[in-house]
Amino acid sequence: MKRPILVFGSTSLVGSDFTAEATARFEVHAVGRSDPAELNLDVHQFHRIDLTDEHDVRDLLAPRSGDVAWINFAARTDVDGCERERQSDPQKNSDSSSRADSAWRMNAEFPGWLAEASAASRTPLIHLSTDFVFDGTAGPYQENDLPSPLGPRLSWYGYTKGMGEQRIRHSSAPALTMRISYPYRARFEHKTDFARNLLSRGRAGRLFPLYSDQRITPTWVPDVTGALLTLTEHPETGTLHVASPETTSPLEFASCLFREFHLDVGPLKEARLAEQPARLDRAPRPILGGLGVRRAQALGLLTHAYRDGIRAMATDEHADPPQPSGTS
Ligand SMILES: NC(=O)c1ccc[n+]([C@@H]2O[C@H](COP(=O)([O-])OP(=O)(O)OC[C@H]3O[C@@H](n4cnc5c(N)ncnc54)[C@H](OP(=O)(O)O)[C@@H]3O)[C@@H](O)[C@H]2O)c1
Repeated sequence: MKRPILVFGSTSLVGSDFTAEATARFEVHAVGRSDPAELNLDVHQFHRIDLTDEHDVRDLLAPRSGDVAWINFAARTDVDGCERERQSDPQKNSDSSSRADSAWRMNAEFPGWLAEASAASRTPLIHLSTDFVFDGTAGPYQENDLPSPLGPRLSWYGYTKGMGEQRIRHSSAPALTMRISYPYRARFEHKTDFARNLLSRGRAGRLFPLYSDQRITPTWVPDVTGALLTLTEHPETGTLHVASPETTSPLEFASCLFREFHLDVGPLKEARLAEQPARLDRAPRPILGGLGVRRAQALGLLTHAYRDGIRAMATDEHADPPQPSGTS
């Protein structure tokens, strides 16, 4: 008999890949706003809940026992959209920061409610987070590095995610925070990602100049799924990074991507992130970002170097190329 697992945000870019694989092993109970059936995800049960509603979240979790794990992909991930909510001290401005749809409520408060319920029921919790919790002055970052304080180099999204991490860390929940970085996958028609955005812009001749000074460690999404499937069976606590063991820049990544996809886009234009003027409508990005993966390697978890992830992506596409629109 399959054991129950609770998945928050199963319709997400990252979580939908895990959910698709997990249904074969577990009785998946999905929680969120959109029905996973719309993505052809065959979950056992869907609980339609707005996760910024504290009462609904607590009502769902309080009576639960016997779940193998709770896995949280749900977040407000629109980095530039979150930036419009930036304020000096959300804890002193609780009226606006606790607005129902705010990044603060979703990324900082909701993980705290999850952690409290996980501590009470002793259910293992795995919470997804990001290298954007760091201000990008000293990457790649290790698991024991603490999120940066709020400042001009840190996005509001990164700050709220860091505060969510903190609430979990300060709880007594049997919880693991899994940080990932620039996740990309072979296909997912509901949301684009770093790599597929580059490919579609390259194909359309709409490439923008690419940063040569930014350091990133893009995460191949199937590595997240694989790690989560292992960790649901063999729980760990603390913090774990799943990302490319080699850093790259957007310029290097794009050039490798176009080469592997045999796409001739001409010479790539270069830009420097450090030289970009601050803009109110654009959140700051970590310049020296990325995540070190020593712990994942010690645990024997697979983390594709970015070149190998790109190769796996190209192999997938060549095996089953997308149909041009209009083809039946
Ligand atoms: N994408 C990245 O570049 C990136 C990078 C590093 C880390 N991460 C982290 O990885 C995790 C997954 O990210 P993702 O990009 O895969 O997410 P995503 O595609 O943006 O999906 C977000 C998910 O959260 C759900 N959600 C948001 N607000 C909700 C609410 N109020 N109530 C219920 N559900 C809500 C969404 O449901 P609906 O569809 O119903 O709105 C969706 O399932 C997040 O923790 C994110 O911080 C992402």
